[in-house]
Amino acid sequence: MAHKLTPFITAEQIAERNVELGREITESYSGDEPLVCICVLKGAFLFFADIIRRIDREIEIDFVRLASYGSATSRSEDIVFSKDLEISIEGKDVLVIEDIVDTGHSMDFLLHVLRRRNPKSLKICALIDKHERREKAVTVDFAGFKLSDGFIVGYGLDYDERYRELGGIFELSNES
Ligand code: IMP
Ligand code: MG
Repeated sequence: MAHKLTPFITAEQIAERNVELGREITESYSGDEPLVCICVLKGAFLFFADIIRRIDREIEIDFVRLASYGSATSRSEDIVFSKDLEISIEGKDVLVIEDIVDTGHSMDFLLHVLRRRNPKSLKICALIDKHERREKAVTVDFAGFKLSDGFIVGYGLDYDERYRELGGIFELSNES
């Protein structure tokens, strides 16, 4: 079936919001220690690349990738790392940068694992916060845009590995 892509957030709107978010993030940290920015692959890769250049302090970067197995609906118990961090986060300020927090199961899993490694602080920045769909109590500290429902693609977000390369964000529906 062919997909219909309806413009939802333009590349310009994303760029403007990233400047504001970068400022908010910069202002919320003090001290001289580097901030560890963690990119949740694959969806956050473009957002991550843009946002870390808007944060005005020293940073360290690393990447994780989560995989869910079992049922199609993600439950925290069914999630594993398919790529873990390579650096230590002990005693450091850590900012997880994610594409979308939806039900919150993926982020809940990730936060539990990272907390056990004793970071000094642990916060979340997400491009899209689908807060109304939450099943786990996960709070996004820095949210780019809020969305109540619908499936979106572009700017790193995919449907079956497609559309990640688009500069803006589009709502995906089936062509009728
Ligand atoms: P959660 O565990 O339900 O919070 O799932 C979050 C993950 O589902 C995100 O990191 C995305 O990879 C994916 N996801 C949720 N909604 C969308 C969407 O509208 N477009 C693309 N991916 C999505
Ligand atoms: Mg994701």
